[in-house]
Amino acid sequence: MAAERALEMVADILKCRDDFPVLQTKMHGKPLAFLDSGASAQKPQAVIDVMNNVYEGGYSNIHRGLYEISQNLTADYEAVRSKVAEFIGAPSEKNIVFTGNATEGINLVARSWGRTFLQKGDEIILTEMEHHANIVPWQMLRDEIGVVIKTILFDERGALDLEAFERLLTHKTRLVSFVHISNALGTVNPARKIIEIAKDFYPDMRVLVDGSQGVVHNAVNMVDLDADFYVFTGHKLYGPSGIGVLYGKEELLNAMPPYKGGGDMIERVSFEETTYKDAPYKFEAGTPPIVEVIGLGTAIDYVSAIGMENIAVHEAALLVYGTEKLREIDGLTIHGAAPEKAGILSFTIDGTHPSDIGMILDQCGVAIRAGHHCCMPLMDKLNLDATVRASLGLYSNKNDIDQLVEGLHKVKEMFK
Ligand SMILES: Cc1ncc(COP(=O)(O)O)c(C=O)c1O
Repeated sequence: MAAERALEMVADILKCRDDFPVLQTKMHGKPLAFLDSGASAQKPQAVIDVMNNVYEGGYSNIHRGLYEISQNLTADYEAVRSKVAEFIGAPSEKNIVFTGNATEGINLVARSWGRTFLQKGDEIILTEMEHHANIVPWQMLRDEIGVVIKTILFDERGALDLEAFERLLTHKTRLVSFVHISNALGTVNPARKIIEIAKDFYPDMRVLVDGSQGVVHNAVNMVDLDADFYVFTGHKLYGPSGIGVLYGKEELLNAMPPYKGGGDMIERVSFEETTYKDAPYKFEAGTPPIVEVIGLGTAIDYVSAIGMENIAVHEAALLVYGTEKLREIDGLTIHGAAPEKAGILSFTIDGTHPSDIGMILDQCGVAIRAGHHCCMPLMDKLNLDATVRASLGLYSNKNDIDQLVEGLHKVKEMFK
């Protein structure tokens, strides 16, 4: 079987599995088959250790202390900004704003850039497969200033219809905002092509890419991609929760006002007037997630040492294997068969609700997600209220898939 051969070729990567303590544990007495990395990935020991080490041996607030541990931690924190820039191929650390998560990055752009540069009647193009994080902030802006939201349709495979996209573009379109990899279907959208179409139509068109899944499954390069904004979240990239990244082109970040105010983002404050620091600092009011940034830096070192290309090859092989195995199950439908697809398997089984499947799989030691995956409009389009989603990480292996398939046979037994 082609998939089995491909898996053998990338077997080396599976040695990494030992780096993840939780994967050595059991769930309901069964080996844990963790297939919910799309929701949040497990953390390697190196990330856990580096965060513990900061708390144990060198914690303080940053940017302010004149003493050694504060200055050291400030340097380590700022070094992560440069590391993130290098990891995503951004021109400089000035492009990197630390946020709480991807959701905050999109809200920041909507509140700061959107409120400043958009006006009533301007059009924003999203896609039908967006996560709520890339829908709701734009609806809030629509309700506030009267922008118009349009959506690009996807076809029965879950691939965006780029001709329909071109037809949506008008002289009023100001922003295209789309997901790089769909968390519900696994579709890898042709981001470079979409950006090219948008910018050919109108060079000042702004494009935001939600890279929450994109940055996890493939190498990305901001210069090649030419997105104006790119957001992602640390906890899906094997780092901690509570830390996200907004990449923005420097001239845009400089032209945008802060969207929240407080300490650390100012040059000078008086009761008459406040002046702000330059980007990215003017967007980082208050004490930042210090230790989470350090953890993210180590997560980036970790995946970089393995190689994003190797992770992509490994997950692609496992996706082929998983797809073949699931297809053998009677009454099971896989949702999402785009020509470019990442390690996400969304499916339903005739006559069985996804929540029931999730509960039975839990008893079999298999952790999956059952629900709408924060993509209700996508579910409406598929005429479903939920799917079961098995999502792969760099540590996923053939046994995880086999355990899933065994669990699904149990489901079939119980519901026949
Ligand atoms: C595609 C996509 N966008 C945005 C998000 C939101 O991420 P966070 O909750 O970390 O902000 C997720 C998380 O599930 C996602 O998969």
